[in-house]
Amino acid sequence: MVFPKDFLWGGATAANQYEGGYNEGGRGLANVDVVPHGEDRYPIIAGQMKHLDFDNEHYYPAKTGVDFYHRYKEDIALIAEMGFKTFRISIAWTRIFPNGDENEPNEEGLQFYENVFKELRKHDIEPLVTITHFDMPVHLIEEYGGWRNRKLVGFYEKLVRVLFTRYKDLVTYWITFNEINMIMHLPFMGAGLVFEEGENQEEIKYIAAHHEMVASASATKIAKEINPDFQIGCMLAAGVAYPNTPDPKDVREAQIANQNSYFFVDVQSRGEYPNYALKYLERQGIEIPFEEGDKELLKENTVDYISFSYYSSKLAAHPDNLESQGKTEGNVMGTLKNPYLEASEWGWQIDPLGFRITMNEMYDRYQKPLFVVENGLGAVDTPNENGNIIDDYRIDYLQAHIQEMKNAVELDGVELIGYTTWGAIDLVSASTGEMSKRYGFVYVDRDDEGNGTLDRSKKKSFDWYKNVIESNGEDL
Ligand code: BG6
Repeated sequence: MVFPKDFLWGGATAANQYEGGYNEGGRGLANVDVVPHGEDRYPIIAGQMKHLDFDNEHYYPAKTGVDFYHRYKEDIALIAEMGFKTFRISIAWTRIFPNGDENEPNEEGLQFYENVFKELRKHDIEPLVTITHFDMPVHLIEEYGGWRNRKLVGFYEKLVRVLFTRYKDLVTYWITFNEINMIMHLPFMGAGLVFEEGENQEEIKYIAAHHEMVASASATKIAKEINPDFQIGCMLAAGVAYPNTPDPKDVREAQIANQNSYFFVDVQSRGEYPNYALKYLERQGIEIPFEEGDKELLKENTVDYISFSYYSSKLAAHPDNLESQGKTEGNVMGTLKNPYLEASEWGWQIDPLGFRITMNEMYDRYQKPLFVVENGLGAVDTPNENGNIIDDYRIDYLQAHIQEMKNAVELDGVELIGYTTWGAIDLVSASTGEMSKRYGFVYVDRDDEGNGTLDRSKKKSFDWYKNVIESNGEDL
C-alpha cells in the first residue's frame, strides 16, 4: 500500500465561492460579495477598478454561492457517502467580525462553524480550515486600505485567537492564507488592494505580502499557545515553470518565475527573506516595512506543513525569445503554450507529470510534509438524456494526477499528509465567477446567471472517487 492508513483523502471549498448566506446570521459585507460575474470581474479582482458595493447592472454570484450555509448537512452527508477523511472549508471573516475591527465576535457566526465542524466530526471527517481564502470585510478595505495597512495584522490576530480558542478541540489542521502568492496576480482577492492612479503597485503588493506573512507567523505562535497539537500550514498556488527551450536565457527566466512563487513559502517555511528576494527588492527600490521583532517572529514561527494547489505547470521564456509563442487563455497566472500538453476548455494546460515534478521540487526545497489541498479539472458538464453527468474527462484528469502523486510518494519518497480535490461539490469559479466551470463530483443545479434549484446530484465521478478512497488510492 502506497499511502499510509490515515492518509487524508477529501475535497476542498472556500466560503467566498461556496457558502452564500451573505446577509444572514449577522454577517458583514465581504470583498468577494461585491465582485460581479462578467467582463468587469477581472479588473476588479486585479485591483485596477474600485467596486465596493452592489449595483443593478451586475450579477453577484458569491451572495448565494451554492448555499452551503443552509445545506451543509446535506453536503456533508454526500461527502461522507464518498468516504471523505477530510473536508476543506474556509472561514468567512465577516461572519466572525462583520467589519473586521470590532472588539467582540459575532456569536451566530461562530456557532455556524461549530455546527459544521461537529457535523463533520459526526462522520469522522477531519476539518481542514483555511482562515482566509480570498476573503475579508469590505470595511477593512474602505477604512484601512486592506493588507497594505499594518493594522490588518492586529485584526487578523484577533480573528485567529477567537477561532483557535473556540475550535480548540474540533479542528487540528489550519491554513493561514490561501494561495498567498496570488497577491501578485489578484491583489483585490488576495489582500483587498485597490490601487490609486500612479501608485507603485508592485511595492504595495510586497508590503501587503509582508503583512500577511507576519500575520501568518503570528497566527502560528498564537496557535501553539492555545493548542500545541495544532498543525499550521502555508498555501501556495504551485506549478513548476519549465524553460521554453534549452537556451540558458529561458532557463534563467524559468528559475526567476519559480523563485517568484517560492519566495512566500521560503519566508513562511524557512523563516527569513531569501537573498535573491532581498537583492531584487533593493534593485527595485522597494522598502519592506520591517518592524522591530518581525525578523524573530518569522524565524521562530515557521509552518508545520506546506500545502499547495496544483492545476498546471507553466512555461517561461526570455523576452528576446518570445515572438512566435502564443499565450494560453483564461489563466490568471498567464503562461506560454506548451506544445506537449493538452489544455482544458479554459486553456489550463494539463500536466500530470508536472504534478510529480512540482511535489519533488517543493519537498526537496523545504523538507516538510506536503499537503495537496487543490487539484482538479474545471469543465462544462452537460447532463445526458437521462439527466446523468458522465464526466469521464474529470475521472481521466484525476486518475492521471493521483497516479503521479503516488509515484512521488512511492518512488521519490515525498512525505504527503493528504489530497483534497478542488470543489468536491460544484461551486462558483474564482477567476471567472461562472458556475459552468465545474470541478465537483456532485452537480449543483445553478447556471451562470443564478437560475436553478441548487439541488445536488451525483456525477459518474462520485462513485469513482468513492472507490479511490475506499481502496486508499490502490484502485484508480
Ligand atoms: C485556486 C483557488 O486558485 O483555484 C480557488 O484557491 C479557485 O479559489 C481554484 O476556485 C480554481 O480556479 P477557478 O478560477 O477555476 O475557480
